[in-house]
Amino acid sequence: MEFPGIDGFLGTRASLMLDVVFVAMFAVIPVMGVSIAMARYKQRWQLHKTIQLTLATVLLVAVVAFEVDMQFVTDWELRAEPSPYFTMDHKWSSPVGVSLLIHLFFAVPTAFIWVYVVSGAVNRFPQPPTPSDYSARHKLWGRIAAIEMTMTAITGWVFYYLAFVA
Ligand code: HEM
Repeated sequence: MEFPGIDGFLGTRASLMLDVVFVAMFAVIPVMGVSIAMARYKQRWQLHKTIQLTLATVLLVAVVAFEVDMQFVTDWELRAEPSPYFTMDHKWSSPVGVSLLIHLFFAVPTAFIWVYVVSGAVNRFPQPPTPSDYSARHKLWGRIAAIEMTMTAITGWVFYYLAFVA
């Protein structure tokens, strides 16, 4: 089937950027897990900082590219139309629409929480980073940020399957 925009590489109906983000999250989640384990079990705080700043930068670039693609190039509704879980007439009450709303419920706050956690950590931990009186707040919000990112990935994968694979 022909759709506007660039097709992805996974052989589904998704666009290139959708495929890039779909696959990238399989790397982001384990890398984030290793980075948190480095801080928690190995006291490798500088490594933890480097990995988290790299992840945050990569994600920022990916999100901007993704949003430009979604808003101006890719018509995701058109690509989702052949799915048995989607119709334009019931866009937001179809399983695809509901799964997208659930995904956005996690994705939007995650972006803000990450900005808060990264900027807070960079400004409040010493250089090189070591535990400080900022630790308790960072551990709390760092855990929330990690859980939110994981939920964003899982709900994104579900939406992708319902809209572009099924
Ligand atoms: C979104 C980005 C980040 C997330 C999700 C995150 C997450 C976490 C988590 C969950 C812990 C607690 C590990 C444990 O259970 O002991 C932690 C510890 C730590 N993080 Fe981050 N972190 C991020 C960015 C950063 C940055 C940019 C820095 C440095 C500027 C940093 C410095 C530290 C330090 C020093 C600790 C050890 C705190 C302590 O044990 O007292 N983190 N981080």
